[in-house]
Amino acid sequence: MRSKVLVTGANGQLGKTLREISGRFAEAIEFTFLEKSQLDITNQEEIQRYFKDNIIDFCVNCAAYTNVDLAETETDKAMTVNAHAVAYLSKACKAHNTVLIHMSTDYVFDGNSTTPYKENDPTHPINSYGKSKRLGEEHIQSNLSNYFIIRTSWLYSKFNKNFVKTVYSKLKSGHQLRIITTQKGTPTSCVDLSNFIMFLITNRVKAYGIYHFSAKGETTWFDVGLYIAQYFKRSSAVIPTPIFESKASRPIYSVLSNDKVISLTKQEPNRWQDSVDDVLKSLTYD
Ligand SMILES: NC(=O)c1ccc[n+]([C@@H]2O[C@H](COP(=O)([O-])OP(=O)(O)OC[C@H]3O[C@@H](n4cnc5c(N)ncnc54)[C@H](OP(=O)(O)O)[C@@H]3O)[C@@H](O)[C@H]2O)c1
Repeated sequence: MRSKVLVTGANGQLGKTLREISGRFAEAIEFTFLEKSQLDITNQEEIQRYFKDNIIDFCVNCAAYTNVDLAETETDKAMTVNAHAVAYLSKACKAHNTVLIHMSTDYVFDGNSTTPYKENDPTHPINSYGKSKRLGEEHIQSNLSNYFIIRTSWLYSKFNKNFVKTVYSKLKSGHQLRIITTQKGTPTSCVDLSNFIMFLITNRVKAYGIYHFSAKGETTWFDVGLYIAQYFKRSSAVIPTPIFESKASRPIYSVLSNDKVISLTKQEPNRWQDSVDDVLKSLTYD
């Protein structure tokens, strides 16, 4: 029997990517993609009604408040979407025996580590966005046992607004960019993350819990920018800067360990460079 899968926040970059690749999984999965105007996850009654009226085997929550800097001033809004609404979703999943697949972030860590963060390392978010995402995780952990919390990092895709697309567009239009050299992490393609989500669903994985999913390797924002500039043969157009003024503090090191995902999937994730190449090609030729 096909699994029935609800995707919330379907108009975000991850939601759009899942939708784009969903055709390949049509034999195994029946998808419903709902964007904010169709299901607002902050409306508890709407959620309860939707779960009562529909059979849902898996709920993939791609809905989130993701503006890290604005979250410093719109803290209540970030908390409402990233924490309170996640409590509503997890309660509905519990009541209807639905597996929740929820996205979280490397920003639940403070960045003081020098080695890749593992799933059970202590969390200590240093900005409002990270605090709201961590509270969302806690709600899931206290309401539900059938969940996957997938912490990922530096997400990008050919859709919506993200670092890779911004750098690509600026370089393409002849601009120069100053990019920070002092934050280390791993850019992760929405396509790679979507394939991992599909793996969990199609294999009906029962090893619930927290997973760290990112591409292979670690780098800095500057080196990602330089990599994209090399694609345009414009390396001198990216200028290194050790400081970048922003409202929110960001962890200086937020590399995630992929060991748990590798032992589950028996596969290494793609190198970040290879996945960036794929998105650059699709931005160029689509
Ligand atoms: N982007 C990153 O670098 C990054 C890094 C690590 C983890 N993550 C996590 O990965 C997940 C996916 O991120 P993303 O980059 O795909 O985010 P995104 O592109 O910003 O998409 C989020 C989507 O959620 C929708 N949304 C907001 N409030 C909602 C509500 N109340 N009800 C229903 N939908 C709502 C947004 O709609 P509107 O645009 O109409 O508000 C948007 O379409 C998130 O959980 C995020 O925290 C992201």
